[in-house]
Amino acid sequence: MSSRGPTIALCVAAAGFVAACATGNYQRVNPPVPEGSASAGGGAIRLPQPNADYPLDSVAAWGPPEDASAPPDAAGQLSTEPVARGRYLARLGDCAACHTDPGGQPFAGARPIRTPFGIIYSANITPEPKSGIGNWTEADFYRAMHRGVAHGGKNLYPVFPYTYFTRMSRSDVDALWAYLRTVSPVYQVKPANKLPFPLNIRPLMALWNALYFRPGEFRPNPNMSEQWNRGAYLVWGPGHCGGCHTPKNFLGADRNRRAFQGYTLDDWTALDLTGNGRSGLASWDKGDIVEYLRSGRNARTAASGGMQEVIYDSTSRMSDSDLAAIATYLKALPPGGRTRAFNPPDQAAMLSGQAIYEDNCSECHGFDGEGEPRHFPPLAGNSSVQARDPTTILRIILEGSRSVPTPAKPSAPAMPAFAWRLKDSQIAAIATYVRNSWGNSAPEVSPSKVSKLRSRHVSQ
Ligand code: HEC
Ligand code: HEC
Ligand code: HEC
Repeated sequence: MSSRGPTIALCVAAAGFVAACATGNYQRVNPPVPEGSASAGGGAIRLPQPNADYPLDSVAAWGPPEDASAPPDAAGQLSTEPVARGRYLARLGDCAACHTDPGGQPFAGARPIRTPFGIIYSANITPEPKSGIGNWTEADFYRAMHRGVAHGGKNLYPVFPYTYFTRMSRSDVDALWAYLRTVSPVYQVKPANKLPFPLNIRPLMALWNALYFRPGEFRPNPNMSEQWNRGAYLVWGPGHCGGCHTPKNFLGADRNRRAFQGYTLDDWTALDLTGNGRSGLASWDKGDIVEYLRSGRNARTAASGGMQEVIYDSTSRMSDSDLAAIATYLKALPPGGRTRAFNPPDQAAMLSGQAIYEDNCSECHGFDGEGEPRHFPPLAGNSSVQARDPTTILRIILEGSRSVPTPAKPSAPAMPAFAWRLKDSQIAAIATYVRNSWGNSAPEVSPSKVSKLRSRHVSQ
């Protein structure tokens, strides 16, 4: 019996690792934040630090968003020419975001992606034969996208979202391949992953696949409209929206029975996209969803955290018809999950929160949380503010944030960081106050939650 000890230990380590890899999805390592913590963070995308004195600084300070009144790639959607269609599909799948290192060449990979156990680097997917995928065949590429197995038979980690890409049609994957053959070949070797033994054993992924992965292309539901089916394909296939928005099990696989009910990854809370009242999209209409995905904001909120990068590189470049299809699909999701009761907030915290809010925040967000829609997001009725998990709003208050610029909304108003000015207990009190005023309701926030996030994200 005693000989089983090490085996069990190994299995536990392996299982933990697999979980780490899968939940490590999207925990992309952000470039270091330059000195000067009074400036806004901006989070997931490589935005230069805004000038805190000019929160309305125009986008010119850090270069225009690819300038076009309409997403230039959208025409590719219906093209009969595979390369044009493939270029558009690469937008849908957000390939460039993970496969381009900040400051590096497009698609040359080597972007570090953090997991709790170490770092996994994205691969070079340019057609360079030695370090990229230049000597792959179309069939190799389909196998990688469809089964998560690379040229030569090695298993890929699900940080690469093949669990979603498997639903893409063969003709879409072939078009993507045709496009990737045309990007500039770059010699760049994928750095060795920083994973301790035995966590670096790739074949373990075969086990994970056997447990949680069912390869298979999307099959339309004949009872639903064409638009709904297109939306379902985008959300469950190339768009891999559940990669962030769906809760994971202890091995890091999506808990699809709770699909899109929200999850926190890399200290950003991907919100509930189901038809729930407070936390979900019940009060949004399709137009609100389309506007948010196209421009990064709408009358109710402004995107922050990991969603900014998704909007910047992917959804803001989608065609109007694809955005409408996604909205149709999301609006058809029934309310998911149960709402758990919580205690009303402490009155002393509410009062002190109100005083600090009025001093520091009301200038932009209004005394009644009404904000200035599409500029300074309203906090009243805001789902990010009322998320059960307050991680996102605490990070925004600590680190500041800058709106994502898009062709539809090139301005990028910013919010300054408050970490240097306010103590943990004050930030907890403001958060509790905004979460429970003007009709909002959400669990109270503790100072210890603020101090944890401060230690992880604010340089001392
Ligand atoms: C969330 C980040 C992420 C996204 C989005 C993503 N990838 Fe990747 N991809 C990775 C990582 C990380 C690896 C390396 C995985 C490993 O080491 O097992 C990878 C590996 C690959 C490989 C295997 C390359 C090799 O040499 O083994 C291919 C092919 C690939 N990705 C294509 C794509 C395409 C095409 C898209 C867009 C449709 C895409 N990826 C989107 C993160 C991503
Ligand atoms: C990299 C992780 C990630 C991916 C992939 C992702 N999201 Fe998000 N999403 C987030 C985060 C984080 C938020 C919360 C942003 C905030 O609080 O401002 C969010 C917010 C949203 C919201 C706003 C919800 C609200 O109530 O304010 C919508 C709508 C949305 N995402 C749709 C999508 C769709 C559609 C896709 C797929 C095309 C997608 N997301 C893919 C991380 C992600
Ligand atoms: C100079 C104007 C300004 C001030 C002052 C300011 N904010 Fe903001 N706030 C913004 C802007 C701009 C955004 C949008 C950032 C983005 O898009 O990521 C924002 C975003 C937010 C969000 C996220 C809303 C959403 O829809 O996701 C919260 C919560 C928030 N602010 C709370 C506060 C609190 C609390 C204070 C005071 C401690 C404060 N803000 C002070 C401008 C400001």
